[in-house]
Amino acid sequence: MSEAGAVAPPVTYGLVGHPVKHSWSPFIHGMFAKATGQNLVYRLFDVVPEDFRRETLRLMTGGVAGLNVTLPHKRAAAELVNELTARAARSGAVNTIVLRPDATLLGDNTDGTGLLDDLERNLGLRLGDRRILIIGAGGAVRGVLAPLLGRRPRELVIANRTAQRAAALAAEFADLGTVGARSLESVTGPPYDLIINGTSAGLSGEMPALPPGLVGADTVCYDMAYGRGQTPFTRWAQSLHAARVKKGWGMLVEQAAAAFALWRGVRPDTRPVLEALEQHH
Ligand code: ATR
Repeated sequence: MSEAGAVAPPVTYGLVGHPVKHSWSPFIHGMFAKATGQNLVYRLFDVVPEDFRRETLRLMTGGVAGLNVTLPHKRAAAELVNELTARAARSGAVNTIVLRPDATLLGDNTDGTGLLDDLERNLGLRLGDRRILIIGAGGAVRGVLAPLLGRRPRELVIANRTAQRAAALAAEFADLGTVGARSLESVTGPPYDLIINGTSAGLSGEMPALPPGLVGADTVCYDMAYGRGQTPFTRWAQSLHAARVKKGWGMLVEQAAAAFALWRGVRPDTRPVLEALEQHH
């Protein structure tokens, strides 16, 4: 225990990924820490896949109390930890690791709750009985399927460039609701209530080619990716006059808040952070 008056050193948290240098997580967690009076530092750890296991264990035995995990390590993190929360086990992917007092590692996945918090609380959407189209069938989509299906949409369709990957993912989550699978070319209208882009196509400036008729005057288009200005997906949605077009900044902040709550036992207010980020983007 520290002596009266002595200042305890900050607890270290961080992000493991490859690449990580453009991450906004240090900014977000820094604002959370300040607002909640938590004494912590948040660092970026660029780790290539071959080194993920060794490097993560080295960090966690070397004083790091918790880690966020991003591309391309979310599946590997689920293999690494000692125990998974139910939602992490269901998604097969981990984005948050907690070092517990008994020195074991718990893996959680806060991506799904982060997306739901942004869609429902921040954007005021209702998902029950709605028709939802998700583009992509990779790690980003895997993490959000169970929470979305938990809201009982009327229809949820996964469309992917590689149709078999969409079919495999749909089969894996079929016990939670009606999940359809299509190739990108074979998705058909009528317009969806919500279209979520979960592909990484935008990173290379591309927009997957989709048939016409998917976006109507009431369609909300949500890009799980984020960045400055327009993405190829938001440009596409806007050109088709979608009702609302949003990038994934809110999901990023909400998943971070859920991770912070897990680590520190206090849930930060996300509103000031969202407002600060919106001024920049
Ligand atoms: P992540 O963890 O980001 O989801 P991933 O598992 O590599 O990464 O998945 C990337 C997703 O983006 C996949 O759905 C991929 O389609 P394929 O399964 O056909 O590879 C999709 N994707 C990436 N680049 C794309 C492009 N140029 N056009 C369409 N889809 C693309």
